[in-house]
Amino acid sequence: MSDGAFVLHVLGARPNFVKAAPVVRGLGELGVRQGIIHTGQHYDALMSDVFFADLGLPEPIANLGVGSGSHAGQTAALLVGLEEVVLREKPDLVVVYGDVNSTLAAILVCSKLHIPTAHVEAGLRSFDRGMPEEVNRVVTDALSDLLFATSPDALSHLANEGVDPARVHLVGNPMIDSLFSALPLLDPEPVRARLGLPAEYAVATLHRPANVDDPEAARELVDAVLDVSRRIPVVVPLHPRGRERLAAAGLVTGGNLSIVDPLGYVEFLSLVRGAKLVVTDSGGVQEETTMLGVPCLTVRPNTERPITITHGTNRLVTPALLPAAADKALADGSATPSGELPPLWDGAAGPRIAKVIAAWLKGDNLSPASQAVFPQNSSFGAASAVR
Ligand code: UD1
Ligand code: UDP
Repeated sequence: MSDGAFVLHVLGARPNFVKAAPVVRGLGELGVRQGIIHTGQHYDALMSDVFFADLGLPEPIANLGVGSGSHAGQTAALLVGLEEVVLREKPDLVVVYGDVNSTLAAILVCSKLHIPTAHVEAGLRSFDRGMPEEVNRVVTDALSDLLFATSPDALSHLANEGVDPARVHLVGNPMIDSLFSALPLLDPEPVRARLGLPAEYAVATLHRPANVDDPEAARELVDAVLDVSRRIPVVVPLHPRGRERLAAAGLVTGGNLSIVDPLGYVEFLSLVRGAKLVVTDSGGVQEETTMLGVPCLTVRPNTERPITITHGTNRLVTPALLPAAADKALADGSATPSGELPPLWDGAAGPRIAKVIAAWLKGDNLSPASQAVFPQNSSFGAASAVR
């Protein structure tokens, strides 16, 4: 491919923006021509615009405005909108991120149009096909030409699914690059003051369909969070998905519980940095708490990010066990079991991805790059959280 090759990034949802920013920056530094398509899957200012500002992402060249809908309705709108854009823009490579419906739709469209693709955050598996994200992960990885993995377990998942290892590159975690970039700005005090929180508090984020869509599950979860709030004040920057159902189940401001709008990236991570405890069902938050050394209780039966348990501060809990687990986490603090952080979560994943993409665009014959980009001294070495 020529030096003037054009790379298109397809982004749609909050976690996509955080993962893409370091890749866009890395490619920019190598002089690669690129543009962002925003699908509009997330559209509230606090779910979208604030991330472009906080992360320094360039303006998208188009916003498809697909909005919300059923899985079929949303995916159909994404397919139609993305096909049009890709035919118009004629990219040499399309880069997709994570596991959201925008990711899946972009991969399907490009595969049918024979446009090469790269998947950032390949190979994560919860082995729970009840999660919409797991379906998106499996399909996206099966169809991607370049696969960028954030943790070593992803390599064996991809190998087990028959993915050619020559297409897979273990590069570290761009979500952690974004965290490192923001670190000098992460001061809990202003946001704590704005939200009227005491010095010691917990943060909770909840949005997984399995937790918030079913009224019974929502009630069980809310009761558990209320129980935690009797031990330590809890602030919940609430994702729009759960708003009504969780409120109906009793998740309302009062006593030791504060329900607030979703926070911008810098404000949210500032709050997390100062927290004694995080309760979550988010994927990205499991990773960020690991790096910030904040105890994290993930209210899910499984995680596609087991490295945050073996090399981080994360624990899986059921709603019934959450209050006791919170007591223990508050007493124990944030010891990680191995005393080691995940390998290559060092703030340099974006440049590694950019280097592989730039070489691929030039038609360089890439060696099995999971070896090539894995520095000799990076394997599971002792490291301390960045808190
Ligand atoms: C999506 C992803 C999920 C990811 C999450 C990150 C899929 C299948 N799911 O879930 O993997 O963890 O994003 O946050 O892609 N809504 C608003 N304003 C917005 C966006 C959404 O009010 O800006 C509300 C709408 O009621 C909508 C609901 O949230 O129906 C769900 O939005 P959607 O993008 O379909 O899925 P998420 O639950 O956000
Ligand atoms: N996040 C944020 N504000 C919030 C909640 C989360 O900025 O109020 C950030 C968080 O730091 C992480 C990303 O959003 O970088 C995770 O997104 P989310 O939990 O929506 O999606 P998931 O990671 O579960 O797919």
